[in-house]
Parts: sequence; C-alpha cells; structure tokens
Amino acid sequence: MKRIAIMTSGGDAPGMNAAIRAVVRTGIAFGLEVYGIRQAYTGLLAGDFERLTSREVSGILQRGGTILQTARNEEFKTKQGQRKALRRLNEHQIDGVIVIGGDGSLRGAMALHTLGVPVIGIPASIDNDIYGTDMSIGVDTALNTILDALDRLRDTATSHNRCFLIEVMGRNCGYLALMGGILGGAEVIVTPEKEIPMEEVAHELEAAYIKGKAHAIAVIAEGAPYHVTELVDYLTKQEVGFEIRLTILGHIQRGGGPTAFDRLLATRLGVEAVNRLISGETGVMIARTGRGQNTIPLEEVTSNSRSITDEYYDLAEILSR
Ligand code: ADP
Ligand code: F6P
Repeated sequence: MKRIAIMTSGGDAPGMNAAIRAVVRTGIAFGLEVYGIRQAYTGLLAGDFERLTSREVSGILQRGGTILQTARNEEFKTKQGQRKALRRLNEHQIDGVIVIGGDGSLRGAMALHTLGVPVIGIPASIDNDIYGTDMSIGVDTALNTILDALDRLRDTATSHNRCFLIEVMGRNCGYLALMGGILGGAEVIVTPEKEIPMEEVAHELEAAYIKGKAHAIAVIAEGAPYHVTELVDYLTKQEVGFEIRLTILGHIQRGGGPTAFDRLLATRLGVEAVNRLISGETGVMIARTGRGQNTIPLEEVTSNSRSITDEYYDLAEILSR
C-alpha cells in the first residue's frame, strides 16, 4: 500500500478536521502518500484529489467544519456512478480509502468495498445514529452546544415565567433531544422513538406550572411526530399557565470547535483507521465502545439501526418531576 485517500461526507461534524489530521500524520509516519478528496463523493466522481502533507493539516485540530468540505451526491448512489468512482480511484492509483461520515456516507463506503476497493469507515455525525459505536465524532460538541443554549434559555424563561420549546437536530434519531433534555433539566422530551401526544405535553407543562415551577423546558427532536410550530399553536390554545416561546437551534449545533472528547475520539479513530487499512482490513468501520477501538463490518453497520436504551427514558421521567 503506497497511496491512500480520505474524504469527509454527509453533514459536517465538529472533529472531522481532527480525524483528517490524525489520518494524514499517521499515514505519513508509515511512509504513505495521503490524498484528500474534496467534497466527498462529488469530488470523487470529479477526480478532485489533492496531496495532503503534514503542513496542510497544521492548525486544524481545533477547527469545526471540514477543510476537505463535504457534500451530498445522488449520482454516487447509482451503480454507474460507483463504477465511475472506481475509475477515478484507479486513475489516481489510490490503494485504499478512508470515509469519515454518517450512516449514508458509510453506505457509500460499503458500495466501494463491494467493488473491491479497500475501505475503512469512521463514524462522524452529530446525530449519534450510527449502529455499532457508542459515540460518533461531533456528538459531544453538539450536545455541549445544546446544553449551553438550554442553560441560557432557562435563565430568561425563569425571569418571565415562560415555557421554552427547543427544537434540536438528530434527523430520525432522538439521542440529542434525550441527552440534551436529561442534562439540561427539561420537563418534557419528545423524540421520534418515544412519541408523546400533544395532549400529554400540555398536561405535563400544566402540571409543572401548578407545582409552582418558575419555568419549563420542552426539548423536541426534529424527527418528532408533529412539527414544533404545530405544538406551539396547540399549547398556546390550551393555556397551560406558562407563556410559550419557541427556539429552533438549527445548524448552530453543527458548528464550533470540537470538545476535548471529540478531539480525542477523532484522533483515536483516525489513527486506528490507518493501522487497520495497512494491516489489510477492509469493509469495516472503526467503532468506539466500552472496550476501546474495535472494528465492525460496514455491512452490519448499514443494515442495523441504533436504538436508545429505555433506561435513559426512565431517567428523564424521574428527573423531570
Ligand atoms: P450522512 O452520511 O451524514 O448520513 P447522507 O445520508 O446524506 O449523510 O449521505 C451522504 C452521501 O452518502 C449521499 O449524498 C450519497 O452520496 C452517499 N450515500 C448515501 N446512501 C448511499 C447508498 N445507499 N449507496 C451509495 N452511496 C450512498
Ligand atoms: O445528519 C446531521 C444533520 O444535521 C441532521 O441532524 C439534520 O437533519 C440534517 O443533517 C440537516 O441537513 P442539512 O445540513 O442538509 O440541512
């Protein structure tokens, strides 16, 4: 193995740069040439490759976003697109590819593996919806951003005796909402996995008001069964006691420099990805579990979905009383 390539794909996540840096410097330490593919599968199809030296990855450890940029690409989902990608890799004499991204991006990595390309995946997505790893790169930073926002919103909520509904990201996964809600002291948490009818949300908030709470926080996952604006209208009509206000955190959750946890996670996964690629492993994702860094076949990652244990829902229920 002489030349490897790396890309960041799907939604960006804080810590992607730290992973790029770890891959490049580990690769160089092993005598490899490392190429960056710009804008994920879009750049792969266009042949947009650049050599990355140690200097190119200087000063990026603490930066959010991704220096390689990212993209979503429909053509790569087709067999024809994937064959074109294989031609591009051959043209550039790439012996192995490391894909850093979310579950969709890892499906793309699986497609390359099926075509015979040596591939290693690294889980990175603020959603924490990737099967087989306890944490993905970017989750911890996004969660801390959510907590910072919740703490600030609670200050103003208390001053005005208000209830804040806060919509957080996560696509179809309620991890950020559930953890943000538990750690931010929310009264109500609505996730796609555990739907709470609007009537019950109103009931919980009214109960908090009657109990004498000075504020209420309801964290709503973007994948909740109803849109958060519908819920605002409903709660306003129900007159739950608190005045209702809405904050949609949006892409603020994706930006910012990575936390210490995410820098360490990204660094460890990046180093391990190169080690595994060099030792001849392919078609696997590097996962972080209680036992350290492990590999799990991409096939298993992409054919399962990650579930949240009921224990956390029970905890949320007890702590919101
Ligand atoms: P994320 O990786 O954050 O989950 P997406 O689901 O949007 O983001 O996937 C990112 C990109 O990965 C897609 O735009 C596409 O190029 C590629 N991809 C997704 N699913 C597949 C698939 N089933 N086969 C091949 N490529 C895929
Ligand atoms: O997968 C990360 C994520 O931020 C999701 O939480 C969200 O649903 C989606 O990406 C937003 O995508 P976009 O950046 O294309 O608006």
